[in-house]
Amino acid sequence: MSAIVSIRNLHKSFGPAKVLNGVSLEVKKSQMVAIIGRSGSGKSTLLRCLNGLEKVDSGDIEVCGYQVSRPEGLDLRQLRKKVGIVFQSYNLFPHLTVERNVTLALTTIKKMPLAEAKSTADSVLQMVGMEHKKDAYPEQLSGGQQQRVAIARSLAMAPELMLFDEVTSALDPELTAEVLKVMENLARNGMTMALVTHEMAFARKLADVLVFMHQGKVWEVGPPEELFERPKTSELAKFVSSEL
Ligand SMILES: Nc1ncnc2c1ncn2[C@@H]1O[C@H](COP(=O)(O)OP(=O)(O)OP(=O)(O)O)[C@@H](O)[C@H]1O
Ligand SMILES: [Mg+2]
Repeated sequence: MSAIVSIRNLHKSFGPAKVLNGVSLEVKKSQMVAIIGRSGSGKSTLLRCLNGLEKVDSGDIEVCGYQVSRPEGLDLRQLRKKVGIVFQSYNLFPHLTVERNVTLALTTIKKMPLAEAKSTADSVLQMVGMEHKKDAYPEQLSGGQQQRVAIARSLAMAPELMLFDEVTSALDPELTAEVLKVMENLARNGMTMALVTHEMAFARKLADVLVFMHQGKVWEVGPPEELFERPKTSELAKFVSSEL
């Protein structure tokens, strides 16, 4: 299996604060890698490094064939066509319909003709169960629906890798379930994904690899059952019991 993401000995500080302290990790094609850990352990920073939103101090990152850790010569636009990222806040354009939110990047960045962009929007909105709302505006939708549109907007770019940073954290349990279902379908259809989540049951059931981050390090990594049932460190054992 080929690696879509390959991180070697990544270091990153913000001022005096060491946030990533020698992280190495791989995400292989069609894998779901779930990252868990306490607040401040560096999870979001790690994801943001993968699509060039943060500059790294040292170490190597290769994503979809791009040397992300070497900004000179890196074409961020090309990288971001291949890497979709969805955050806790959905950031839809409030003045645009659902359909236009999805087609905008297709017609502007990808220069796709509008008719083709609309048909792409149809199919990705269908994938997230939102095709019936294509003429609605974001404020007319629930949080879960908005998040599903945000995921569709990313999928429309046909990414090779999807990054999700706590995409359900702002949602109540019912809406969380809707969004997790969409992510489960993506995983079953072979999407390569790395996600930060507090949804332990979801990570346990669906992740191929679970990563426990602690103090800027990959503290433990392996199959989810193993980490949940036989944590090797007291830090992970404590974290698991606190999340149950
Ligand atoms: N842009 C920034 N400038 C300065 N410090 C930052 C910046 N971004 C993150 N940090 C710091 O880096 C550390 C790790 O932050 P990060 O957001 O990666 O943690 P996290 O594991 O995602 O936490 P959470 O679970 O709360 O989202 C924190 O101490 C945070 O305050
Ligand atoms: Mg975070």
